[in-house]
Amino acid sequence: MIIKNIECLVTCAGSHKKIKEKMKDAKIIENGYVVIENDIIKEVGKGETYLKKIKDNDIVIDAKGKTVTPGLIDSHTHVVYGGSRERELPLKLNNMSYIDILESGGGILSTVRDTKDASFEKLYEESKKRLDVMLLHGTTSIESKSGYGLDFETEMKMLEVNKKLNAIHPINVFSTYLGAHAIPEEYKDDREEYINFMIKKVIPYVKENNLAEFIDCFCEKGVYSVEEARRILSAGKEKGFKVKIHADEVESIGGAELAGELKATSAEHLVAASREGIKALADNEVVAVLLPTTSFYLMLNKFASAREMIDSGVPIALATDCNPGSSPTESMQQVMTFACFGMKLFPQEIINAMTINAACAVNKQKEIGSIEVGKKADIAIFNSKNLNYLIYHFGVNSIDKVIKNGKIVVQDGKIMN
Ligand code: NIG
Ligand code: FE
Repeated sequence: MIIKNIECLVTCAGSHKKIKEKMKDAKIIENGYVVIENDIIKEVGKGETYLKKIKDNDIVIDAKGKTVTPGLIDSHTHVVYGGSRERELPLKLNNMSYIDILESGGGILSTVRDTKDASFEKLYEESKKRLDVMLLHGTTSIESKSGYGLDFETEMKMLEVNKKLNAIHPINVFSTYLGAHAIPEEYKDDREEYINFMIKKVIPYVKENNLAEFIDCFCEKGVYSVEEARRILSAGKEKGFKVKIHADEVESIGGAELAGELKATSAEHLVAASREGIKALADNEVVAVLLPTTSFYLMLNKFASAREMIDSGVPIALATDCNPGSSPTESMQQVMTFACFGMKLFPQEIINAMTINAACAVNKQKEIGSIEVGKKADIAIFNSKNLNYLIYHFGVNSIDKVIKNGKIVVQDGKIMN
């Protein structure tokens, strides 16, 4: 396959975390081309200098007037869940906070009930539909967390759904165990017992059965304290999981500092991260996964301090947080809008944060995240004449085609079979 005459080829070249000024350089080639053989990128260049001789049965895509980027990587999602939470909308409009809703048995805990009630098949089918929407919007890889089961059986059901989605759907699914997403209702008066249950029973089981690569914990006032998060995540790290952490989403309690201390792969949310926390992330090269649609949707009137983080040398990634409560969207293009207009990130920073830095947040930077020779041919083609235009024209799906593993999987607004 060859994609030629690409008006704006955004390669995001590099297999490392981009920081500071490097985030502002997405290695754009004007009038570029990409040659793909099987599922791998073979050539990248400018003009018509390709070495490949085009044969009759080669697929030739003319990308005049288009912007081509690496397939988008959504490095923080809770896409596997039962039910929905539109009933919380009027509560929020009546100024009830996210944590108040959770403490009154709603929020995450209501999704836990719906996820327990859903059969494996139903959970799989509903989640698959959301992955289809992601693909239609240009996403080719995601991270997906458990955490709406909490009990053993339902957590394993969620992780098995991740596994089946990864096997069957064009999108790659990287799995995270997030048993520490809330304190289950049945352990309300004995949180210690639930923590011990995760450490002694669930974490070893998930590892032995290879059901997740990452471990995560919702470290937040009213949920898991820094001490509890340290215990849970350290236990996971000892078993060989890579560490992620929901840190300082609503209040600053030292979650970012803990991410630095544990040398986490990523720290996520960080809306309220302290100055010391930001320094700890930079010093330990922890990727900050920022979720601007969540800030918007929780009506926090505040976004993570992305500019300060970039100036401090923290590598930034951007993700949807796709979940039924705080960010019911599958669209990374929606995230582009809020990253630009809410966090004042530049288009080249945004695209680096959704590709190469996002690959680093899921530890897959050697295989995906940029358009470079040797990498997987995961590519998004947008109906936009340049990268600025893609972000300037908002609220629509700008995808023309999506290529996954060297095959066209989306065309004319449809998933190809
Ligand atoms: O990332 N913060 C914790 N977890 C999710 C929300 C989950 C939910 O509300 O259902 C988040 O925002
Ligand atoms: Fe989350």
